Amino acid sequence: MNVLFFSPGFPAEMPQFVRGLAEVGAQVFGVGDQPAEALPDAAREGLADYQRVDSLWDESGLLATARAIADRVGLDRIECLWEPGMLLAATVREKLGLPGLSLAQTVPFRDKGEMKRLLDAQGIRTPRHARATTATECRNAAELIGFPLILKPIAGAGSADTHRVDDNSDLERVLPLIRHVPEVSVEEFIDGEEFTFDTICADGRILYYNIAWYRPRPLIGRSIEWISPQTVTLRDPDTAELEDGRRMGREVLDALGFRTGFTHMEWFRKSDGEVVFGEIGARPPGARSVDLMNYAGDIDVFTGWAEAVCHRRLSQTLDRRYNAAVIFKRAQGQGRIQRIEGLESLLHRYGRHVVDVDLLPIGAHRRDWKQTLRSDGNVIVRHPDLGTTMEIADLFGVELQMFAE
Ligand SMILES: Nc1ncnc2c1ncn2[C@@H]1O[C@H](COP(=O)(O)OP(=O)(O)OP(=O)(O)O)[C@@H](O)[C@H]1O
Ligand SMILES: [Mg+2]
Repeated sequence: MNVLFFSPGFPAEMPQFVRGLAEVGAQVFGVGDQPAEALPDAAREGLADYQRVDSLWDESGLLATARAIADRVGLDRIECLWEPGMLLAATVREKLGLPGLSLAQTVPFRDKGEMKRLLDAQGIRTPRHARATTATECRNAAELIGFPLILKPIAGAGSADTHRVDDNSDLERVLPLIRHVPEVSVEEFIDGEEFTFDTICADGRILYYNIAWYRPRPLIGRSIEWISPQTVTLRDPDTAELEDGRRMGREVLDALGFRTGFTHMEWFRKSDGEVVFGEIGARPPGARSVDLMNYAGDIDVFTGWAEAVCHRRLSQTLDRRYNAAVIFKRAQGQGRIQRIEGLESLLHRYGRHVVDVDLLPIGAHRRDWKQTLRSDGNVIVRHPDLGTTMEIADLFGVELQMFAE
């Protein structure tokens, strides 16, 4: 099995997926824009070969590179797990006649209007929505849908340029802020808790699924700096409270005709219990979420995905013994990290439930928390009991503090 892997060194989790492919016996041919020396070890070790390209976004260049590899070694698949590269990977895949998502199948995973249009046609509950390219179209959509609303890019990521709008004057305030966004989705604001439904599929069968809970809701966690946002992977995704979400997850995959690979869906549960679709990507979630799946079930989901893609099965036994929570930290102040407080005391009390501490070291420059949910680092904790997991996670949110100057 020869697999071309698009961008094996970036973003952060990609080298682990490359490792997974190598572990299930695939020969992995990486194509990326980083110099080979800059690739993380896991990527370099997992790759049979690596081809550096000047630009990842040059379609004809990429096609020529892929074709040359295909002519030389023969390719069975092209994999891309990085959102911005998915359409390009689909184009090249299609032109080389390889199996996997075609361009037409990929578009609904990238275009939030098209995505919802297809789901609406199958009777799946989505937020009322309209696409808009001008301020006038936004105002008309607002009139139709009613407040409160969400305005967000039709092809967004990371909650960038996403705004809640409460009334007409709010709308006038927000419109100039999104002038640079070519097309927006105007949506009914859904008030509820937010969860994921993540799967690994082969030939349309769900081989593995995972439900995570965002605390607080991503839009809030990503707009207020002092918050330490959490993602909590649930030990028990099979509870009755989550049943409607699970059902919606399956219906969405069917409606979009998804066959093989990773998916990451987000959905809302309102206080009256109604579930509403949020969005879906044909890729794994980022921001340590795959690591959480691994910590919750003592499995290797990176390899699990690779096995599903290459051999259409998932042979690891899943024994979900823990809830696993990641807590993202943002330092107070600007500049470089000067000191970290509270860590020692927390580790003394809860160290046996802590599986990862990955904070920026003293002296490192702060990351831009608006650009990356990874922010200035994270801690991952796990515990068999959900309430205890959340209690410990909240303590890391409050008592662990980083300071920059
Ligand atoms: N219709 C809606 N009603 C309520 N909140 C919404 C709605 N649409 C988006 N949001 C909020 O904005 C966040 C980001 O929106 P969405 O997930 O669609 O975009 P994204 O930028 O692709 O997200 P991600 O961070 O997952 O890449 C959601 O998690 C949710 O908190
Ligand atoms: Mg989202």
